[in-house]
Amino acid sequence: MGYEQRIVGEDLSLDIPGGEFTVIIGPNACGKSTLLRSLARLLKPRAGTVLLDGSDIHRLRAREVAARLGLLPQSAIVPAGISVFDLVRRGRYPHQSILSRWSQEDEDSVRRALASTDLTALADRPVDELSGGQRQRAWAAMALAQDSQILLLDEPTTYLDVSHQISLLDLFAELHEEGRTVVAVLHDINHAARYATHLVVMAEGRVVAQGTPRDVLTTELLDRVFDIEATIIEDPVNGGPHVITRHRGRLAAADSTLRKVTP
Ligand SMILES: Nc1ncnc2c1ncn2[C@@H]1O[C@H](COP(=O)(O)OP(=O)(O)OP(=O)(O)O)[C@@H](O)[C@H]1O
Ligand SMILES: [Mg+2]
Repeated sequence: MGYEQRIVGEDLSLDIPGGEFTVIIGPNACGKSTLLRSLARLLKPRAGTVLLDGSDIHRLRAREVAARLGLLPQSAIVPAGISVFDLVRRGRYPHQSILSRWSQEDEDSVRRALASTDLTALADRPVDELSGGQRQRAWAAMALAQDSQILLLDEPTTYLDVSHQISLLDLFAELHEEGRTVVAVLHDINHAARYATHLVVMAEGRVVAQGTPRDVLTTELLDRVFDIEATIIEDPVNGGPHVITRHRGRLAAADSTLRKVTP
């Protein structure tokens, strides 16, 4: 996979298991967004294929792909002056045709998506006048309104305060429990550990580990992939792994200086 002049990942073979909550983690620029874009058909792999339930995704019609798979991109340009309601409403396009106009089902999906992202009161506001976190939630609501079987989410919790982060992740977990396939890129390793039923670790365009968070998250992997020294303890909430990071290098030196000056 790659862009016109740049190859981002080679020999990348990844099976996104249906019905799982897959979380992808990896350092900046390792190819996570590129992978999601390829899965969502926005990029055509230079070699190889992306199969959606066994069919080559590039042979399916765009509308058909959109009805089955929704993408929350990492950064998206907001159409000027568009209201929150109208942005979220765009999530319903794949469900409409010239014959079937706006239906009660479309209206219900949009209302539900607005309520679950805490945006009902802001529905009439222009998206470009929202705060960063509110805008991020509006994009998430658009992806939710699509009601697709597969949800691809590129850093859905970026810009969100801790309470909205948890409520959005809980919502994705609920959708997963109802049988949807959720794939999210997250930078917070502990959110990944808590919510993933399947964890994928990428580095330099390749998948370097995948499996349950318990099997995948080791101090050795965190050191190799993220260059961090960490201790892994048991999450007191669910018994899964919980990563405690420690300072290293220059920061570790600063840390010991701090300790020295503290009486
Ligand atoms: N539109 C583009 N054209 C050319 N190269 C790109 C484009 N978008 C990204 N890249 C390059 O592809 C590589 C992977 O980028 P990608 O956006 O997939 O990383 P990422 O893992 O999502 O990183 P981050 O955590 O920062 O979001 C990077 O080297 C990046 O510079
Ligand atoms: Mg990215």
